[in-house]
Amino acid sequence: MNHAELESLNQRLAISGHVRFKEGPGGLIVAEIANTHAESMIALQGAHIMTWQPRGQEPVLWLSRFGKFAPGKSIRGGVPICWPWFGPHAADAKLPGHGFARTVMWEALETRALDDGATFLRFGLIETEATRAQWPHASSAQLLVTVGAELRIELLTQNAGNAPFQLGEALHTYFHIHDVAGMEIRGLEGCAYLDKVGEPARRTQQGPIVIGSEVDRIYLDTEADCLIEDRGIKRRTRIAKKNSRSTVVWNPWIEKAEKMGDFGAEGYRGMVCVESGNAADNVVTVQPGEAHSMLAVISVEALA
Ligand code: BG6
Repeated sequence: MNHAELESLNQRLAISGHVRFKEGPGGLIVAEIANTHAESMIALQGAHIMTWQPRGQEPVLWLSRFGKFAPGKSIRGGVPICWPWFGPHAADAKLPGHGFARTVMWEALETRALDDGATFLRFGLIETEATRAQWPHASSAQLLVTVGAELRIELLTQNAGNAPFQLGEALHTYFHIHDVAGMEIRGLEGCAYLDKVGEPARRTQQGPIVIGSEVDRIYLDTEADCLIEDRGIKRRTRIAKKNSRSTVVWNPWIEKAEKMGDFGAEGYRGMVCVESGNAADNVVTVQPGEAHSMLAVISVEALA
C-alpha cells in the first residue's frame, strides 16, 4: 500500500481517540486502536487481530517475537482466522491448511466509536481469482471486532450462491500466559474430543485441562465458556461463544515448536491456543441466501 492509499484510509476511517491506520511490522498495514478501555492492533492482511491489551493488564493475546510479518505469510500469534476450512482441506492436500483467509488481504469497511468508549471495526475479505480458485462458491466473509474492556469477534459468512456449502472455521486465538505449567483450562470437562497427537483417537476430557506435553485436540459439540486460569499472572480469561460447536486446544510443546521456526525456543511455555470454531464433525452447512455468524467474547478478571 502506498502513502496516498494509507492517507485515504485514514481520511475515511480514522477516529481521534479510537483508531488510525499506519504501517506496521514488515510493512503490513495495521489499524491501531487506543481507547479508554484497551489497545489493539489489527493487520489488514488476514483481518488479523495481533494484540489486545485492556488498560492495566498484561497482554491477553500472545504474539510470537519470532513471527514473520510478510505479505502472504500467516502471523504467529494473535487471532488468525481459519476459513473456509479448518486444518487440512478435506479433498485436496495441496490447498493451504486452515484455509486462505488468514493470508489474503481484507478491506476495512467501517469504524465506529461506541457510546461506552469501545471501538467497533468491520472488515471484508477481498475475493480474487486465487481465492475463487480455492473456494468456488459465491460467498462473503466479514469480521466484526469490538475493542473495549471485552474483545468481541464475530465472523460472518454469507452464501450468495444457489447451492449449499460446508464451512469449517476457527478464531485461532493464541493466549498469553505466564507459564504453561501454572495454567489450567476449565469448561470442557466431560466433553468428547478428537486427539490429533500420535494416532488420531476419540477421548473424553476428565477434569480441567492441564498441559505438560504436546496437546492438539478438537473438542466437539460444546458451546460452553472456556476459562483459562493462570496462577502466574493471577488472571482468569473467559472465552464465551455463540454458534461455535467446537473448541480447539493446542500447544505444540518443544519439538514441534522448534520445527515451526517462528516460535522461538521458549515460546511454547508462554502460550496456549483456545480456538472457538466449527470443525470436524461440527462443520456448518450454509444454505443459499443464508448467513452464518460465529461469535467469541473474551474478557479477563483477577484470579483470587
Ligand atoms: C491448530 C491445529 O489449530 O493449529 C494444529 O489443531 C496446528 O494441528 C496448529 O499445528 C497451527 O497451525 P499452523 O498452520 O498455524 O502452523
